[in-house]
Amino acid sequence: MRMHSFIWIGLVSLLLAGCSQNMEVVNSGERLEDSPKPVADTNAAPLARKGEGEKSEVPPFVKAYFMHTWVEALYSKPTQNKHPNPNWQSPLKDPVNGRVWCTDCHVSGQIDFSKIPKIRNPMVDDLEKDKQFMADLMKKWVGRLNSDEFGAKAKLRGAVTCLTCHATNPELD
Ligand code: HEC
Ligand code: HEC
Repeated sequence: MRMHSFIWIGLVSLLLAGCSQNMEVVNSGERLEDSPKPVADTNAAPLARKGEGEKSEVPPFVKAYFMHTWVEALYSKPTQNKHPNPNWQSPLKDPVNGRVWCTDCHVSGQIDFSKIPKIRNPMVDDLEKDKQFMADLMKKWVGRLNSDEFGAKAKLRGAVTCLTCHATNPELD
């Protein structure tokens, strides 16, 4: 787990062209999803500890691919899910100028998440078929999107649910 984080953080540091802040991240061994939350809540325990041994082998850059796809589906019709909602409408008040962006939810400030690229890695092919993995991830994202503790909610017309983007309950498909 630790080794893995170090390798990943090292990779990000390289991607972000070795700014000194990233070096501090390496030293503290902080993981990306440890972005501090403004208010404490019961789900605040970062994945590094909570999900240990479960899906911890999924590298963050693979999740980054899905994150990009998902954020895009907030302002343009989703096409990559199995049964996209045919009546999809952007849940954003302003899908052109008021998009939800990475930094609305990733508030750490130590790593600029908006610079993490969308790269389709072979692991993506396997994981997008893993219903449980995808559902767990999406639940966390939707939860944070609708949360008062983060900046994204103010950009929404109303609460987002799974059926905003999926035609049918994606957990039962
Ligand atoms: C903003 C749009 C959006 C919302 C909201 C959303 N999803 Fe998804 N979902 C997607 C997209 C896009 C994909 C395809 C990702 C890929 O394969 O790259 C996907 C894929 C999935 C998959 C994999 C199977 C498939 O249909 O491709 C599951 C399972 C899933 N979502 C569950 C959920 C659950 C559960 C919720 C509610 C908690 C949810 N999603 C909310 C956009 C969304
Ligand atoms: C609505 C809130 C929200 C937005 C917007 C968002 N994220 Fe995330 N992101 C999360 C949450 C919550 C997690 C933790 C999920 C998990 O790993 O189980 C996460 C996890 C990640 C991870 C995995 C971190 C790790 O250490 O495993 C990466 C990488 C990531 N996001 C990148 C991005 C990028 C790039 C964008 C912009 C395109 C983005 N995120 C936009 C909420 C968000």
